[in-house]
Amino acid sequence: MTEFDVETVFAVALKAVKDAGEIIKEAFYKKKAVVTKSCDVDLVTETDQAVEKMLISRIKENFPNHMFIGEESVAAGEKCDLTDEPTWIVDPVDGTMNFVHSFPHSCISLAVLYRKDIHVGIIYNPTLEQMYTAKLGQGAFLNGKPIRVSEETELGKSLVIAEFGTNRDPQKMESVLKNITALMNKVHGLRAMGSAALNMSSVASGGSDCYFEYGIHVWDIAAGTLIVREAGGVCIDTEGGPLDLMSRRMICASSEKLALQIIPLLTQLKLERD
Ligand code: IPD
Ligand code: CA
Ligand code: CA
Ligand code: CA
Repeated sequence: MTEFDVETVFAVALKAVKDAGEIIKEAFYKKKAVVTKSCDVDLVTETDQAVEKMLISRIKENFPNHMFIGEESVAAGEKCDLTDEPTWIVDPVDGTMNFVHSFPHSCISLAVLYRKDIHVGIIYNPTLEQMYTAKLGQGAFLNGKPIRVSEETELGKSLVIAEFGTNRDPQKMESVLKNITALMNKVHGLRAMGSAALNMSSVASGGSDCYFEYGIHVWDIAAGTLIVREAGGVCIDTEGGPLDLMSRRMICASSEKLALQIIPLLTQLKLERD
């Protein structure tokens, strides 16, 4: 088994994410060359690829034995193999649609797992210079200051994020609309801002109270899961059981009490695993 020193890994990860953030900043307000993937709204740009390439080369330089799962390196339909080895899970640009439109709500999301536990989570919105970080058992931070989830436990007073996602499968779209309809009059406000990782950062820092989505991938939620939990919140399966990072669905909230008020209102969806 490869050795794992969380402080060294965190330091390398933080520097790599900051440096990669410069690539996003440089490109942010320029016109982007966009390529579509599974459908017209599933996008990738040169920046997604350049950020992922930089992160891979930093990992290889510093930790040649570590494993890597990155959104733009996984072929369509390919299964991710999560082992007990140190594994870096990267979404180079989470919120590519926002990035393409220069809507300043996209980020780099990076998690490092060891023996399948998330030990490091980093989410960086370079445009707004917001760096969310967490190490297992050591709390969650925004730009170095501790963050905490909200104390809201009542659904009627909660700001809830319900994303649409990029999957245009009719069954998926129908369930998204059903969930929005079911929640609309029961919550204080509903939002969809187009970045799974920043949604989780917002729950972690008390800016919203809950976020759920069907269709997400492990690279969308791995870093955010640690950050939300270290900030005092919960990340669980949309039916209420323990979260399986590969199951493509998740609900996170400031408390289990709040998540359990939303779960019975949801139309459940099972997706092909990562
Ligand atoms: C997407 C964003 C979006 C979420 C999708 C993700 P990408 O990630 O996080 O908010 O609804 O499910 O795929 O493609 O911009 O990295
Ligand atoms: Ca994508
Ligand atoms: Ca993503
Ligand atoms: Ca992405």
